[in-house]
Amino acid sequence: MAIQQTYSMIKPDGVRNGHIGEIINRFERAGLTIERMELGMVTPEQAKANYAEHEGKPFYDGLIAYITSGPVVKMVVSGEGAVAKCRSLMGATNPAEAAPGTIRGDFGLIMDENVIHGSDSPESAEREIGDLLCLNSLVDSVRPRCADGWRSGAFCVSVWFFWAIGLREGVGRRKSRYYGRRRNRCANRCARRT
Ligand code: RTP
Ligand code: MG
Repeated sequence: MAIQQTYSMIKPDGVRNGHIGEIINRFERAGLTIERMELGMVTPEQAKANYAEHEGKPFYDGLIAYITSGPVVKMVVSGEGAVAKCRSLMGATNPAEAAPGTIRGDFGLIMDENVIHGSDSPESAEREIGDLLCLNSLVDSVRPRCADGWRSGAFCVSVWFFWAIGLREGVGRRKSRYYGRRRNRCANRCARRT
């Protein structure tokens, strides 16, 4: 079977209830690779585009409100037959019907909050990877850390510089005090001899 990429997303209830680690563990144990991952929000625009096929259905508004209600984990997952493999690890849409051992079967409670999303075809995967992952948020989250790195680096260099100067001055002062005392002792001895 061909190597595929799929888009998977741990939904707000999965994140809130602490299932991130277990879900990733299940993917990796099944031979799938997490290629990209980010913790972030789904904007209402992204949610509407992703669930456009459900627009007008009775659960649509609740679905959009729920998926935008808290942080999610967005992932690009790859492996042999990744789209189908991911869907089979997820289990049926309704947690009440999902088999034990599947993610929704083990962690889901109700249809509206069913822990995880996975693309239903390679075409949806390509679209969702393009629409839902946010490279800018990744770059933004790295940038402040680089700036902090430079700031703390500069701080360390200045501390070291002033410490080195202080040490030099201190040693110099101790040295001149020592030679001063020696000079005085010699002068006293000479004065006693004469
Ligand atoms: P998802 O897109 O979230 O991975 O889920 P799915 O493919 O298994 O199911 P889908 O038919 O695409 O439905 C999207 C989400 O809408 C909610 N839903 N509620 N009350 C209902 O009849 C109903 N049907 C669907 C679910 O939360 C589902 O995940
Ligand atoms: Mg779907």
